[in-house]
Order: sequence, then structure tokens, then C-alpha cells
Amino acid sequence: MTKEIYLTGDRPTGKLHIGHYVGSLKNRVVMQNSGDYDPFVMIADTQAFTDNARDPKKIRDSLTEVALDYLAVGLDPKKTTIFVQSQIKGLFELTSYYMNLVTVARLQRNPTVKAEIQQKSFGESIPAGFFTYPVSQAADITIFRAKKVPVGDDQEPMIEQTRELVRSFNNAYHTDILVEPEGVFPEKGLGRIPGIDGDAKMSKSLGNAIYLSDDADTVAAKVKQMYTDPKHVAVDDPGHVEGNVVFTYLDIFDPDTKQVADLKAQYTHGGLGDMKLKKYLIEVLESELKPIRERRMAFAQDIPAILQMLKDGSDHANKIAEATMKEVRQAIGVNYFAGLK
Ligand code: TRP
Repeated sequence: MTKEIYLTGDRPTGKLHIGHYVGSLKNRVVMQNSGDYDPFVMIADTQAFTDNARDPKKIRDSLTEVALDYLAVGLDPKKTTIFVQSQIKGLFELTSYYMNLVTVARLQRNPTVKAEIQQKSFGESIPAGFFTYPVSQAADITIFRAKKVPVGDDQEPMIEQTRELVRSFNNAYHTDILVEPEGVFPEKGLGRIPGIDGDAKMSKSLGNAIYLSDDADTVAAKVKQMYTDPKHVAVDDPGHVEGNVVFTYLDIFDPDTKQVADLKAQYTHGGLGDMKLKKYLIEVLESELKPIRERRMAFAQDIPAILQMLKDGSDHANKIAEATMKEVRQAIGVNYFAGLK
């Protein structure tokens, strides 16, 4: 029996943080190790260019950083095809064909792209590539005929747009070669973890992230800066658990333990200082992050091997993509020279 393909990816615009880890990477490793899937994980450099076209060095540097993060959390190139988007030439071709099956009005309605345009303050200068990246993302997913796409909640509109494009394509060219994918979304509470400053979103641009590559001292320093309860000043003051980032992280990294329940009770009652509470969180984070960090450092000793791994993954991914593209060209009827020498 052929296994279901899952495909997902990340834009290489920096190192990955613990928000990526709990929201996505952890689950990818579980899906990988279940043996039920044929997993594809893509470093989406082409997509990173849609808003970083003038900073190719950042993208190039981030490529190996993201690959190291993947290996560090347990993605295994023997089980998961780890590859680089720009190396799959069929993606550019499929994107071009898709571009004619979607309207500008439809693209304008994509709520995630709308929000990103606001955030990035493009004003009147939205790069056309950025505006249309959901189309290229549809190509990413469908060229591999992926059934499952594990992504954050903000990617739901991309999956919907992909499904529409599959229907339009199959309909326009009287075929059924393309497959409608389904999103696989994070468990409640894990999709978006707050930054250390209490901002609703951990992100590189907000400077409030804990990275998988951070050393132990950096993690501890970040926890010490963490937003708690501004009204909890003296140790004996009653404090709030709700909205307190330390407790939010404890609920994620040490879920449903008696220790955390006790800490919550004591904090609410009064008598638990922020420092003591934070020391506990530092221990909890360390037990999860230390092995990841150590594996990351070991892999970082041999960058040429990382590049080789990405090349091998890209070669394999290209074979799968080319097989789909052959059928795509035939379905559209642009296989003019088939059979000719
Ligand atoms: N848009 C995704 C992100 O910003 C990255 C991505 C590109 C992706 N192509 C994809 C995710 C295909 C899933 C499937 O994180």
C-alpha cells in the first residue's frame, strides 16, 4: 500500500523557535515516526523571496539553520524527504499555470495575506510575488499530491485556496490527476504561543522568541525577563495565573502535572515569588531543549553534510514532482513534442 504523503514547510528567514516546535515540528516528528506517512518537509526559500527579495544572504544563511533545527528536533532524512523549494523547477511551471485559474479578487480575499500585508506595512508597494504566494503554495502541495498538510491555523486559507485550484484545474482540463489536500492543525492552545513579553505571538520580528539554538544561559535570561503579573510585586501578594506567560509555558511544556497545579494554587494565594516560579520553568524548558540543542551542535559540525542531505532530498523530491508535471503537461495539452527526438 502506498502511504499518504504529507507535506509542509517553513520560510527560511531565520532560526526556528519554540513556537515552531510546539505548534508544528513536534507533530511532524510524531507523524514521521508513526510510519503511516511518506513525509515531505520543504524549506520554502522561493516563498521567503516574496518578501525578502533584496536580502538573499539572509535566506541563504537561514537555509542551513532551518535544516539544523529540523535534524535537531528529530526529523530524519531516512524517513522524511527534506528538500529546498527553489530546486524544484516544476513548481515554477505549475505556479504559472495556476496563476490563470485564480482571480485577483479571490487573492484579495485571502485573510492571512491581508493581515501580513498590514503587518509588513507594504503600503502601495506590495510585491506581486507576495500577493500571489498562495498560488505558489498550492503548487507546492499539489505537485507532490500531498493528502495531508500539517500547518498552523493561519495557513487554513492557503489550504482552502489549494482545494479550489485543484477543482479548477481538474475541471478546466477534464482530468482528475490532482488531489485535494486537507490541513492538519495544531491542538488547541499550541497553535500560537505568546512571546516572552506577553505579546500574543512569538516571532522573530517582535524580538520575543526563544530559539531552539539558544544556549542554556540565554534561555534562562529570557525566562527571567518573562512577563508575569505586573500587579504581583511582593512575594506575598496574590498573583494571576491567567495571562501570565510563565504559566502559559508551563501548561505547554509540563502539562497537567501536580507540580504545576500546586504552583498555580500557591501563586494565586500569595507566597510564591516570580523568581522561584521562573526557576522551575527554566528546569522544565531545559529538560526539553537540552537534547535538541546538543543534537543541533553535533550536526552543525558538518555543514557540507547538511547541504548534501538537502541536495539528496531535493533530487528525490524532483523525481516525484517531474512525474506529476508530465501528467500536468499532458492534461493541459502542452506536450507538443511527445514522442519526438
Ligand atoms: N506559508 C508557510 C509558512 O509561512 C510555508 C509554506 C510554503 C508551506 N509552502 C508550503 C507550508 C506548503 C505548507 C505547505 O510557514
